[in-house]
Amino acid sequence: MDFTELVVSHRRSVASHVIELTLTHPSGDLLPGFFAGAHVNLRLPNGIARAYSLINPSQGLPTPCYVVAVAHAAPSRGGSAWIHANVEPAQQLMVSEPVNHFGLEPSAAEVWLVAGGIGITPLLAMAHERQQQGKAWRLHYAGQSRAHAAYLDALPNGATDLQLHFDDEQGGNVPNMAQALRNLPPSAHVYCCGPAAMMQAVREAATAMGHPASALHFESFAASTDATDHSTDEPFEIELSRSGKVVQVAPGQSALDALEEADVIVPSVCREGVCGTCECDVLDGDIEHRDSILSDAEKAANQTMMVCVSRAKGARLVLDL
Ligand code: FES
Repeated sequence: MDFTELVVSHRRSVASHVIELTLTHPSGDLLPGFFAGAHVNLRLPNGIARAYSLINPSQGLPTPCYVVAVAHAAPSRGGSAWIHANVEPAQQLMVSEPVNHFGLEPSAAEVWLVAGGIGITPLLAMAHERQQQGKAWRLHYAGQSRAHAAYLDALPNGATDLQLHFDDEQGGNVPNMAQALRNLPPSAHVYCCGPAAMMQAVREAATAMGHPASALHFESFAASTDATDHSTDEPFEIELSRSGKVVQVAPGQSALDALEEADVIVPSVCREGVCGTCECDVLDGDIEHRDSILSDAEKAANQTMMVCVSRAKGARLVLDL
């Protein structure tokens, strides 16, 4: 993955504990375009890399800037806290080209966008993209309070259905997803980005209403601890189809770490199963998926895996490397 040095041209607060950064090329050059749902990876000077959704959809055309929002995570694992404390206008950051594992299905007549907290960022881009294309969209936006809800005043007009839920206005109750979904046409595609519990509630409610897995799309902004904890994992081996080389993955070791130890270079950024950089094609063997990127249908297809977190279900995998 190629990174380019971009400059922070603007920083502003967009909600309690959320800042927005505008990133531009130091020479004013246009940046590669992207569609809603895309993210860029920021490689920070403290050695940490993080993925942030792009807010300003460019309809695939070259764009003068990338706009991202960073919520101060509590507790922070070193990414958001560092950005909030250190990133100011004129600072240069290493930024990847846009990557999109969460794009809108162009043929979808109806989409329901479900945002929890800072999960609004890719969905805001989707709302704007659907609006610009003259296509229908619905939004459910939930958060702790209005003060914590970024871009509440920047939602485009024209939602077929706009549901807002703020816990502090509802006696601390979280939204009821079965109720929120009740008027959704069966043919709609659902796009959800938010906390793990919210995504699970959406998945269960949509599935119970008969929405197929292929119409449910999720993006996580944080890795689950189960994904990155390899301490109790069993060993397995990886055969590299192009060289025939066999790499042993030790107990408690990630496949990515084992490959790197064997001098097999696989590009990686987050190492937490959320950015998609380390995706490898799998030619044989059953995969235990732990990433937050692939859809249920993609996981069931057993054709590709994120080697930073995912493993073999059995004793062996054959990768197209
Ligand atoms: S390095 Fe980000 S998903 Fe593996």
